[in-house]
Amino acid sequence: MKETSYIVSKAPKSAIRELFDLASGRSDVISLGIGQPDFTTPEPVLQGNIEALKKKITMYAPTRGVPELLKLIEDKVQRKNNLNINWKDNIIVTNGASQAVTLAFAALFNPGDELIISSPNFVSYFYCALFFGVKVIEVKRNKDFSPNIEGIRNAITPKTKAMLINSPNNPTGHALTPTELKEIIDILIENDLYLITDEVYENYIYDGFKHVSPASLNGMFERTVTVNAMSKLYSATGFRIGYVVSSKTIIDLMEKYHQYTVAGTNHAAQYGFIEALKMDISFFDKIWQSFDKRRNLVYSRLKEIGFDLVKPHGAFYIMPSTEKFNLTGSQFSQRIMKEQAVAIIPGNIFGSFSDNMIRISYATEIEKLKEAMHRIEKFVLKL
Ligand SMILES: Cc1ncc(COP(=O)(O)O)c(C=O)c1O
Repeated sequence: MKETSYIVSKAPKSAIRELFDLASGRSDVISLGIGQPDFTTPEPVLQGNIEALKKKITMYAPTRGVPELLKLIEDKVQRKNNLNINWKDNIIVTNGASQAVTLAFAALFNPGDELIISSPNFVSYFYCALFFGVKVIEVKRNKDFSPNIEGIRNAITPKTKAMLINSPNNPTGHALTPTELKEIIDILIENDLYLITDEVYENYIYDGFKHVSPASLNGMFERTVTVNAMSKLYSATGFRIGYVVSSKTIIDLMEKYHQYTVAGTNHAAQYGFIEALKMDISFFDKIWQSFDKRRNLVYSRLKEIGFDLVKPHGAFYIMPSTEKFNLTGSQFSQRIMKEQAVAIIPGNIFGSFSDNMIRISYATEIEKLKEAMHRIEKFVLKL
């Protein structure tokens, strides 16, 4: 047989999935690996989907998405993200933020283009780049996980096409400050670069930090692709509904790629998102408080146990160093799974500079988090 795709075969099987495989069938495992909130999807969202199916909405959806949904996204994006957009030109509904990122790559890049990202960063960006022939230039984050502005400036070459940011960030929990964002934007404008901004964690932000969409800032809309989804805010990762907001030129390109690769997005699920966007966002207040509490608990316990770590201001992840314990992130993750039945993601899947780190998700109920911290402490004490 002839060789199959060497490009796709370069991508390893997801380490996160492998960890889940290890944990499956073991009832004693506490998972701190999951990138999914633990509350149930709000009832109106479920009903929206169910009612659509009862009305036999089972045929292909309009390629860009159901108009009623596009109008509600327009309204949300105008109010929450401060972008002056038009639903007919500037939005496309996607299969989660994952496909939104894919569409951004499809619309912006040609093979050989370079993309700058702060590292560590979300794993899918690296493989999307591989699949589209894009060279990722990783710029190591500062010790506190803030972007290394000088490093970003120095990474630019004539081949640089874009930068990708994700704030609040998975895996570091870093949320960009207004100054950091301004510094990044200055570089983008000076060098005529595009920006992909993944904002799926915009509501998971703490300590008085405020999420700002870069596309709302002067001179940025036309060069920015804003990625978002219903997945994290409505705890609806299985709905597979996300969206992109960008200029008409970019959305038109995305529509073509979308048409010929996925032919649209789950039709009935879009009605679930319609009901989600009609909901009063205050449903999230209590959930946010609980996540804030979990964050404080996990941070203070890990610090007490002796980890070197940075307090995250966003998302629901924390990324301690394992260096002090003379273990790589992978060794730590494998051993704690075997010895204490705690599932933790090794840092090395998030780029080249996080071999000696682990990523802990605190999207798990508080009692389980307490028990997990206890097990981590027992493990570390024995080292
Ligand atoms: C930063 C980031 N972007 C995108 C995604 C994918 O989101 P979705 O489930 O909507 O495809 C995730 C999921 O964990 C994420 O953490």
